[in-house]
Amino acid sequence: MSIQQEKIKDLVERRSSARLGGGRKRIEDQHAKGKLTARERLTLLLDEGSFEEFDMFVHHHCTDFGMDKSHPDGDGVVCGRGTIDGRIVYVFAQDFTVNGGSLSKTMGAKICKVQDMAMRYGAPVIGLNDSGGARIQEGIDALAGYGEIFERNILSSGVIPQISAIMGPCAGGAVYSPALTDFTIMVRDSSYMFLTGPAVVKSVTGEVVDQETLGGADVHAGKSGVAHFAAEDEKDAIGIIRALLGFLPQNNRDRAPLKPTEDPFGRSDDALNEIIPDNPNKPYDMYEVIFSIVDDGQFLEIHREFARNIIVGFAHMGGRSVGIVANQPMSGAGVLDINASRKAARFVRFCDAFGIPLVTLVDVPGFLPGTQQEYAGIISNGAKLLYAYGEATVPKVTVTLRKSYGGAHIVMSCKQLRGDINYAWPSANIAVMGADGAVGILFGKEFKSETDPDKLAELKEARKKEYDDLFCNPYQAAQKGYIEDVIEPRNTRFRIIRALIALENKRPELPDRKHGNIPL
Ligand code: HXC
Repeated sequence: MSIQQEKIKDLVERRSSARLGGGRKRIEDQHAKGKLTARERLTLLLDEGSFEEFDMFVHHHCTDFGMDKSHPDGDGVVCGRGTIDGRIVYVFAQDFTVNGGSLSKTMGAKICKVQDMAMRYGAPVIGLNDSGGARIQEGIDALAGYGEIFERNILSSGVIPQISAIMGPCAGGAVYSPALTDFTIMVRDSSYMFLTGPAVVKSVTGEVVDQETLGGADVHAGKSGVAHFAAEDEKDAIGIIRALLGFLPQNNRDRAPLKPTEDPFGRSDDALNEIIPDNPNKPYDMYEVIFSIVDDGQFLEIHREFARNIIVGFAHMGGRSVGIVANQPMSGAGVLDINASRKAARFVRFCDAFGIPLVTLVDVPGFLPGTQQEYAGIISNGAKLLYAYGEATVPKVTVTLRKSYGGAHIVMSCKQLRGDINYAWPSANIAVMGADGAVGILFGKEFKSETDPDKLAELKEARKKEYDDLFCNPYQAAQKGYIEDVIEPRNTRFRIIRALIALENKRPELPDRKHGNIPL
């Protein structure tokens, strides 16, 4: 064997040893918990044979607490570049088999290199997190490593899409970095997010809690809203990442890819002419409207389990990627509360940052009143959505299906918030409030002076009809130019697509400023 061949053999051996991370026993433990290894995850995520690994032989430099006795190649994170559906992405996957995936100074440097490359070359960055956070043995060096990552998360925000998957118990920096990214996907029954795990919680506060209750996928997808998706298993989580990227551009100067479709642009749907119930208090399912108008009935919902009174997600319309925001009458009558406002505001801002047009479907009775909401700050939280829509410069097409009352009417992408094309169905009611509330305020004295119950009921009905005739329709708004047109529901798909085509070259107009001060 020549010297060159010997060196090549040595390289091959070094590579296969590096690929073992924390060793066979720990890989078996990982599998026994139903988890894949970092490399197995990347194999699933990336197009076959596309992965180019960086920094496989990097070692940590820590000498404290016996760390000088072990220097696993790669230091607990697999980094590199690959493709998803032929498009470049930068990736890192933490390896729990090496010191619980905890972040050393050198692991931090590896991740930062990936983030820097993604920014420099304008491609999404995907992090597969499986880490106990800052490596305790490295002290301030580990914290500094996270500081460097966070700063890059922040500077990359709105420039390249950042996607985080949580694939195991993640704590400290391993949850704060995902929180700074655009989308977080958790895996049910095997991934957890918390500041620190149950053992430390018990020692600090005395609270006894298990990982699932503290920060399981359902907790964060349904209660806190920290996670955008709760996947059934790791394969499902990776499928979600791949699907999500199909709607996104590579960076903020790029356009999202067109998706060819056989679904005719001009397709109409007679069922939409029947969908609004006669009784205004009866709900209908907004999903039926969404599935009807988008290409091929395909809709990728974000934050499905959180604030179900509003629906947000991606679809294609006429082949173009769009962000859909829709009130859901089936859940709390589609009312806007704190969580719904936060959820939609964040989505609107993502779409705006990445040039994805917004399609808004309105059926909203108003903001949710009451002490619970007031004490928790419905005013500043509702203002987030107002701010997000008002600031957004992407094409904004809005269709009001039924109720659009008061402040909630303004918030949901109305004309005065620079809505580009605003349509309404004939069933739309665009008013300060619904008839029941309005007549009570306007004619309260008159009602009080009527003592005969039958006459009072008659009077209330007459006043309500008067109010309904005047305000509970789309024509007052149409007469004043607050909407462009009243459209037949069956034509909603092609009216929106036509508008999107017309708005394709919209020029953003914003005042010269460093940045605004959204009510966070
Ligand atoms: C060093 C760590 C570690 C860490 C885990 N390990 N976390 N080593 N630093 N942060 C090691 C363990 O010692 C163990 O090594 C192996 O990883 C697996 O950990 P286990 O505890 O056995 O696993 P499990 O029971 O599944 O629990 C996982 C866990 C728990 C929930 C993540 O380890 C945990 O609570 N870790 C501490 C989490 C934490 O408080 N992080 C915050 C850091 S501060 P051996 O060799 O025994 O198998 C931080 C600040 C960032 O990140 C800034 C935020 C703004």
